[in-house]
Amino acid sequence: MRNSRNGWWEDAVIYEVYPRSFADADGNGVGDLSGLRARLGYLADLGVDAIWLTPFYPSPLADGGYDVSDYCAVDPRLGTMADFDGLVKDAAGHQIRVIVDLVPNHCSSAHPLFRAALAAAPGRPERDRFIFREGRGPDLPPNNWESQFGGPAWTRVTEADGRPGQWYLHLYDPSQPDWNWRNPDVPALFEDVIGFWLDRGVAGLRVDVAHGIFKDPDLPDVQAGQPLNGPSPYRHRPELQALYRSWRAILDSYPVDGFPGSRTAIGEVWYDQADTLRPYLAPDGLPQVFNFQLILPDWQAAAFRGAIDSALALTSGSRAPWVIGNHDVPRPASRYRLDEGYTPEMITRLIALGDQNAEHGAWRARAAALLLLALPGSAYIYQGEELGLPEVTGIPDDARQDPRFRRTHGESPGRDGCRVPIPWDRTGTGFGFSLTRDGASPAAPWLPQPPEWGRYSVGPQLADEHSFLSLYRAALRLRRDHPALGRGTLRWLDPDPETPDLLCFAREPGFVFAANFGAAPAPLPAHGEILLASGPVTSGSLPPDTAAWLSG
Ligand code: NOJ
Repeated sequence: MRNSRNGWWEDAVIYEVYPRSFADADGNGVGDLSGLRARLGYLADLGVDAIWLTPFYPSPLADGGYDVSDYCAVDPRLGTMADFDGLVKDAAGHQIRVIVDLVPNHCSSAHPLFRAALAAAPGRPERDRFIFREGRGPDLPPNNWESQFGGPAWTRVTEADGRPGQWYLHLYDPSQPDWNWRNPDVPALFEDVIGFWLDRGVAGLRVDVAHGIFKDPDLPDVQAGQPLNGPSPYRHRPELQALYRSWRAILDSYPVDGFPGSRTAIGEVWYDQADTLRPYLAPDGLPQVFNFQLILPDWQAAAFRGAIDSALALTSGSRAPWVIGNHDVPRPASRYRLDEGYTPEMITRLIALGDQNAEHGAWRARAAALLLLALPGSAYIYQGEELGLPEVTGIPDDARQDPRFRRTHGESPGRDGCRVPIPWDRTGTGFGFSLTRDGASPAAPWLPQPPEWGRYSVGPQLADEHSFLSLYRAALRLRRDHPALGRGTLRWLDPDPETPDLLCFAREPGFVFAANFGAAPAPLPAHGEILLASGPVTSGSLPPDTAAWLSG
């Protein structure tokens, strides 16, 4: 095992699995734990240290499983607890650790405790586990908060006497009521959930909406013009830090000897100003928070350098792992083809563009992958990034599943385009997504794949040394072996004023990274050998949208 050290997560490469879209073992068109288990060899060959599984718990699937109705069980459509235990065991056999998702901000409206709250009268203790309030006038919700998926963040219930009654808070879909973290039952419940999964041998937790689970007790209106991800009555509340200290103590109470080493937890914290992140980085808080900075910048050397610097000024990449994509944002191979950085409206623009500039985006995503894996610290890869999958923009309206599509009445296409099931083979139903026995024909995948999906499939990419997959495999191999890569620091190599589009840094011992963000070829910095390049590099010159790993 590469990282048998206790702090294995400090330079780990972790692969995000969206289980329903990764691999389907029973042929019903929906990915499952057995499918993932059958494909662990692929992940071991890719060279990742751990996998993070997005929710696989029982759920009505109103928000892709982030509406949990039982935190300590496996959705029967995805498998059984025995399948989960087998997955953890098999993964360990491949030197791969397993991280699971913790969803503490909200549950599903189908959760027994929310049902009990609905059945109870206003003022009863069952209601106090959630955030129920009277409206502030006839048909007026208690405040002006909006759901992250569009529309008001409050829904009114019908009381037992049949009359419209109190309102409950849901920062996301109405089927995702927010927990009241000021009621002691709620932290106690989640301590049990954390213990349940750690006892089953998971190496860590990814904490959903880690910036949002405490609300200002007065529930004041949000002021107009507040920045999207800045401090607000429901973001970055100071009460969060005591909670995370208590969770850190639980993580640290688990044995660190041998596999899997110390346990980690990584918070999903979105912010506008890097400083907002500071309290989350207290030494006794969550071990890690995501660093989303590489998702946001315009495609320019200076913007990327600024994004990296602003993160490194606060902490190392060991505490704030780097990512270029996940199941909530458009795929890098499509996103980076636009010169401007990420905005929520980007998918609509990508749909309008169709195939235009697609190749451009793919070259940029290859260069971004080499950047991601050369930066100091830990990195996350979202499934399919290693295949160069583009955002699927042509999903018919009636096949879209994301609540954001529904709640905005189609104005936002939502996030389905980065969740389309993985193509494993060039041809066949589902392009090999579903494994079936006895030659039976599998059901169509739960989200439609585009007809050209086979072009990106694993099989042909394995056979092609120039493919996206081969690039990722080579990069991960080199990263394991090269003493300069993984945890540590970087030193910028100052740009030649003649080539401002070149981003270069050195890492010790003997490693140089160079990426060309410009439209014209640029000379490579002084180097020994070319270790790896994201595109053709000839006569000492780096083509546009290309990155190289060099010996220094
Ligand atoms: C963040 C998750 O990544 C996203 O998919 C989900 O919709 C929201 N949190 C709400 O749970």
